[in-house]
Amino acid sequence: MHKISTIQSLFVFFTIVVFFISSCNSNNSPKDALTKKEQLGRYLFFDTRLSLNGTKSCASCHSNKMYFSDGYRKSITSLGENVPHNAPTLINSKFLHYYDWANPAANSFAIQIKRPLYGNHPIELGLDKSIIGLQRVFSSDSIYSTLFKAVYGIKDSLFTLSQIEEAIVAYENRLISFSAPFDNGKMDEDAQKGFTLFKGAKLNCAKCHPPPYFTLASTSINIDSVYSNTGLYNLDNKNQYPSDDIGLMTYSKRVTDNGKFKIPTLRNVMQTAPYMHDGSVNTIEEVIDIYARGGREINYGKYKGDGKNNQLKNKLITGFDLTQQERKELLSFLNSLTDTSILTNKIFQNPFSNQ
Ligand code: HEC
Ligand code: HEC
Repeated sequence: MHKISTIQSLFVFFTIVVFFISSCNSNNSPKDALTKKEQLGRYLFFDTRLSLNGTKSCASCHSNKMYFSDGYRKSITSLGENVPHNAPTLINSKFLHYYDWANPAANSFAIQIKRPLYGNHPIELGLDKSIIGLQRVFSSDSIYSTLFKAVYGIKDSLFTLSQIEEAIVAYENRLISFSAPFDNGKMDEDAQKGFTLFKGAKLNCAKCHPPPYFTLASTSINIDSVYSNTGLYNLDNKNQYPSDDIGLMTYSKRVTDNGKFKIPTLRNVMQTAPYMHDGSVNTIEEVIDIYARGGREINYGKYKGDGKNNQLKNKLITGFDLTQQERKELLSFLNSLTDTSILTNKIFQNPFSNQ
């Protein structure tokens, strides 16, 4: 009797362990099916009907085909205007403590999403102007009628804006990916040497771009660590960035924050050119040249000045010499951060072209 109950309880224990392990997997693996709410968010993310004139969706500027960036220096809104900044990837943004390039107030997806949806400076999607029309359009759309009913129990697509936001945020939370060669132990010898360089005291890259997220913005909440001036500008050698885009100083009003921008992730970075907050650096080679020089020199035009001498530049950026071989290794390492499964993983694809 005693023996049987031991075996029984062992069996129950074993079953619980198996169940626990399998449910952990299903929460963590991005390949797994989306919940209904996440699925709704996925449709909305890719739906151009969310913009006031039906031209743009979140995915227009965060394209799954471009690792959730857009390839422009500065993204283009539904009205054809440029936004002030380069569109960052959204892969693994879930782990960031701060969103956007220099706005510490945007510290959650829920807060951040209001800018592209309703922002006026400039209008990006312009959703607030079209919600009633949108309800009408979606009520005759079988996918949305079904999903809104399943998720929120709403008839005739009489959804609210906050439900739309909530569903998109749920989808953003599923844009997770850690299957690059770096994660799979598939780095070649050059890439491994490049990683050693990346972490070493000569380059100091990992001080600001530490693994596994490759940005301090995911591992620190300290604003002074998360935002840095990397010496891209030094207008008239007066330690200034262009006056219409001075970074963290816009929010903090501290003069010493002029030119500080959020440290971006380097995951998939080889696929997300052009670079920096304003997209002003075209290639990864140029990025390395700028760091090697200890700042960017601009010789002509209204942004003339040598960023190397910007007194507000972070002290870690001092410049260094790289041999051709070391440069090759560093590039191999950065290449090992590309997770090509993003291009095929079904949950990242446009649901409208997958029907
Ligand atoms: C017109 C192009 C455009 C559209 C449309 C757009 N975004 Fe963005 N997105 C950007 C740009 C540019 C930034 C950087 C903003 C900044 O710092 O000024 C950004 C930043 C973000 C960030 C912060 C990422 C990070 O690393 O800090 C998130 C999250 C985001 N967008 C989600 C969305 C969602 C969700 C939508 C749809 C509701 C959307 N975006 C629509 C261009 C766009
Ligand atoms: C002091 C912190 C710091 C150090 C050290 C640092 N970075 Fe950065 N990195 C940043 C910040 C901040 C930005 C964004 C700057 C901007 O847009 O104004 C950035 C941007 C980048 C970008 C552009 C990414 C994108 O999506 O636009 C790349 C690539 C990059 N860094 C690679 C490196 C490498 C390689 C090293 C080492 C040689 C390095 N960084 C060292 C803070 C740092």
